[in-house]
Parts: sequence; structure tokens; C-alpha cells
Amino acid sequence: MCGIVGFVGQGNTKDILLAGLSRLEYRGYDSAGIALYSQPFTMVKAVGKLEELKKKVSASKDCQLPYSMGIGHTRWATHGKASEKNAHPHLSMHKEVVLVHNGIIENFAELKTFLQEQGYSFYSDTDTEVAVNLIEYYYRKDKDILKALFSVQKELKGSYAFAIMFQEDAKTLYAMRKDSPLIVGKGENAFYLASDVSAFLDYTNEIYPVENREILSLSEKEIHIYNKNGEEVKRSSTIAELSQRQIHKGEYLHFMEKEIFEQPKVVKDTLLYACNQENEEPAGNAENPKFSYEAFSMTEKDFQEISRVRVIACGSAYHAGWVLKSVCESLARVPVQVELASEFRYNHPILEKGELVISISQSGETADTLAALKEAKKLGAKTLSIVNVKGSAIARESDFVFYTQAGPEIAVATTKAYSCQLAAGYIFSLLLAKAKGKISKEETRSLTEELFLLPGKIQQCLSFDQEILPMAKELKDADNIFFLGRGLDWAISMEGALKLKEISYIHCESYSSGELKHGTISLIEKGSPVIGLLSQEELAGKSISNIHEVRSRGAKCFAIRMEDIAIEEEDFAHNLIVPKTHPLFAGSLLVLPLQFLSYQVSLLKGFDPDKPRNLAKSVTVE
Ligand code: G6P
Repeated sequence: MCGIVGFVGQGNTKDILLAGLSRLEYRGYDSAGIALYSQPFTMVKAVGKLEELKKKVSASKDCQLPYSMGIGHTRWATHGKASEKNAHPHLSMHKEVVLVHNGIIENFAELKTFLQEQGYSFYSDTDTEVAVNLIEYYYRKDKDILKALFSVQKELKGSYAFAIMFQEDAKTLYAMRKDSPLIVGKGENAFYLASDVSAFLDYTNEIYPVENREILSLSEKEIHIYNKNGEEVKRSSTIAELSQRQIHKGEYLHFMEKEIFEQPKVVKDTLLYACNQENEEPAGNAENPKFSYEAFSMTEKDFQEISRVRVIACGSAYHAGWVLKSVCESLARVPVQVELASEFRYNHPILEKGELVISISQSGETADTLAALKEAKKLGAKTLSIVNVKGSAIARESDFVFYTQAGPEIAVATTKAYSCQLAAGYIFSLLLAKAKGKISKEETRSLTEELFLLPGKIQQCLSFDQEILPMAKELKDADNIFFLGRGLDWAISMEGALKLKEISYIHCESYSSGELKHGTISLIEKGSPVIGLLSQEELAGKSISNIHEVRSRGAKCFAIRMEDIAIEEEDFAHNLIVPKTHPLFAGSLLVLPLQFLSYQVSLLKGFDPDKPRNLAKSVTVE
């Protein structure tokens, strides 16, 4: 959601900015723009895809001149609709300052009133235009850029990462951040600035992370970083962990396809990560792997003290929470409550002593999850985050962190990060069961072994890539698709339905098999597609009866089941079988055909599965 880029130094500024914005497309946006340093600033903005901006830039004579500094932005509309006037960069009233912004200025209304009283007028509906004018206001007052930025920092409430240019200073790019990501790259006689390292990884992998409330000035050869007290901070650069290979599609058509195919590896990496953090006990080995509490930055005692668990998350991460609940309650016999992060704060939460609050998030940036986490902390809870992005806001805010090892996930619809979240949930549950003495050494060993067999079984499920095609063809023209499951199967069906609806725009809903007859069955008519998930031996009989209920009302049924679960094949239009695993871990296999189904249906309908309409990868607004 909103991406910013900046460049200063020797290089083709315009092309570097546009290439950076292309890399940030995955964050989700509906307009884009760039500003190049000239007197006055050269600005181009466009609504819609980046292609529109690129066309306008190519057509602009001014843009073809050489520039040595510029900023760019992809905007996901929040304050004000997607339009050129609301698109970034935003220019101050006296045209002395221009900036791009990722985040939300919460007190923009009162600041706007203040600025209006000072004679400022506004052309857009955005909170960002208020920020740029506030900077200009202080700058005109003090005639000192840094002083103005520090004054503004004290006034702004909310989150921001800004890249800023001043008319007065042709050689320096300024930046500041609070709670929104920002990273600096050092090139040869150049500095890059972006929301995400992938924006400039084609040019450099030497980076400077930027901490909260820091202000920066960057020129061709120098970087200066100031902390919130105005003191200059000395910081050495580091090498980005991310490689160029990870941000390119390679031989795949889409990032989503690439990321589905990466799942055997990243799930294995996540399992290994959970073993290799051993400090006191000897690390597990290939024959006898052993998960460690330290992978969660916790001790055995921390685990023993957990009396209840509350999961807060959004979207697919929320669905992963439901899987964690099933597995954890079954293995560790510790009650788990799963809540939508966006609801948590408003439900008058009651947290008990000993209750661990787990936030699950791929990006570690999701505003709803972050806000819920802060609320949980305020209520005195201990907090653990299961996060994919290192050093992200949610990770930093939590007492304990477990890092899933999915690597960068570019497609908006999550696949590999979700699979790693499932793995993290299994490991957490196993460790909790062990710490609580609920499972024997032998059971721990055999469940661990089973987990290490999962990557191989996920690999086998990659064959659904093609196997799913006939089913995808049958479903692509449906208006509504129903997903059914009980227990863990229900948890996975929620993810299957979300995946399909987000990238195929077909209305899909998941229902607990037993609940269907209490209302939704009235929607079933001749030909209604119903996908039944069947992986839980002891529940399969009941689920099959529920499928019969819809079948006898005309539904066209499809089964995705675990090997060994018996069904009457003729009752189903298609019957897909995943390899056998421990029922608690079956979701990790069932989800593969569901992911491929979504991907293929999206392709068959002519959509771009990587960039579904209206959606953003990191939702940084509440
Ligand atoms: C957005 C994405 C979803 C994701 C959710 C939570 O809505 O489109 O795919 O599941 O945010 O994101 P997080 O980064 O917190 O896992």
C-alpha cells in the first residue's frame, strides 16, 4: 500500500524512479507520480497502472532532460479518490517543497485548519498535502531545512515515510519516517531511497536501515542521519539479505506461480530455522531434528507460563490463526481464541494473566494488526509475533518474534507466506505441548519427523498445477462457489475461498459443513459448485453427509481429500487427492490444489493474478 522511491546522484534519475516504482507495484496502488528536481519542479502524475505514468513521462519533453534528483510514488487511495490531483508527489502552496508519503497523518484535519488560518489553501483531499505545507510553513519561518523537519516531526501524529525535495537545495534529498518502512541504498556516487529494498536492488545491495523518528539528508556522496533529538547518528551500511533473484520472476509467468512453487523450500527453511536457534541444548540434526524455544525468542519457562493464547491477524494470516487454534488445542490443550485484528480493539478485550497474544503477519506492517498488538500490550499481555519481514513494525513492537522464512512475497495473494505461517503454528503448538508436558518424547519425535516430511509432500502437490485445469475450466464461469469443511478442513476452506475470490473475482464463501443447513443451504440450486475438503478421518463421514445434503439439492460437488479418506467417487465431478500426512498437518497439503485452482481460474478469466483490483499487499491503514 503506497510505495515511495527517491534518488540523488549520478544516474538516469527518471528511469531509476520508474523502475523502482515497478518493483513496488506489488504493494497495491491506483495512481502514481514522479517529481524531478528542476526550477520549478518537473512533475508527472497519472491515474491507473504505472504504464499510464510511463506513457506520460515518455511524452513529456521536460522529462527527457538530465536530472540528478527525484522522488516517486505509487498511491493506494485513502484520503480522497484515485485522481491526478490526489496522486503524489504533493507540492506546497509556495512551490518550495515537494514530497511523497507512505502512511497516514492522523491529525491532518486540525493541522489543515491551522494552516488555513496561516493563509494556506489546498488543491487535494489528501493528508499528505497538509504535511508538505506544514513543512513549508516551518521552513519559511526558520529558513532552515533540518530545523523545519524537526518541528514538523513534533507536530505530526500517525505514520509516515517521506522523501522530500526543497527548491532551495538542488543537491540534497531529505527523508524522515515513523512507523512506515523506509530504507536507503548506497550506490556509486548515488543514494537511493525506497519503502522496500527491492525497489533499488538492481542497482545496489548496500543498505542503511532507517529507524523510527530519524531524519536523513542524502546527496551524491554523503548520508547524514539524525535521531529524534537532532543528534547526528553514525551508522555503517550493511548488505541486503534479499538477492536480485528473489525479486525476479525467472522462468515463471507470475510471481504467484513462482511463490507457490517455492513452498517446499520455504516451509523446509522455516522448519530448519526453528531448529537452528538452539543455544543451550545441542542443535538437532537431519536424523533427529529438534525445535527450539529460542526460535521464538522465548524460554521453556515462557512457554510453561502460557495459560491461554489469543491470535490477532487479518486476511490469510487470520486463517492461519484458525489452523494454529486447532493444532494447539489438540496437542497442547491450551485454549486459543482467534480474532480479527480489526475487531480486537473494539470488542472491549479481556486478557487474562498468562494469556499470550500472537500476531501473525506476513508484512509485519498491517495497520489493524499493529494497532491490536499495541492495545494488547497496553492491557499488559505478553506478545509474540509470527512475521515474515525482518525488523518490521509488528516484529519490533512484540516481546517475542518468530520469523517465517518465506523470503520476499510479491504476489498480492499470499501463498508461501501463509504456508510458512501454518508451519510456525505447528512448531509453536508442538513446543507448547512439550513445555506443558502434554506429549511424550516419543510423540514429539514422531510429530517432528512428520513435519520434516511435509516439504517433500508439498513438492508432490505441485503437480496440481496442471491436474487442476479441468476443474478450473468448469468453475471459471461460476457466479458463486461454496467451500465446505469441518474442523481443520473448515480453517483451510476459508483460505481456499479467499484465494479464489481475491484473484478471480468470483464470489466464494466457506462454510463449516455442519452450519450450512442452518441457512446457507437455501442458496444451493441446480449446478451450484460446492468444494468439499476432506482430510480429517474422524470428521469425514459427517462432512460427506453434508455434501450429500447439497448434492441432493442439485449442487455440483468437487472433493479435495487426503489419501485414504473413502468417498463415493461418482458423487463428485472431480476428486483430487493429496498425500497422507498427520491429520493435524493436512492443511499444508490441501491448500496447494486450492492455490493452483485460484491461479488457473484467474488466468482463464484473463486477469493478472499478481495484481488483483483494489487490493494492496501491505494494508497500512486501519
Ligand atoms: C492484505 C493482503 C492479504 C493478507 C492481509 C494481511 O489484505 O491482501 O493477502 O493476508 O493483508 O497481511 P499481513 O501482511 O499482515 O499478513
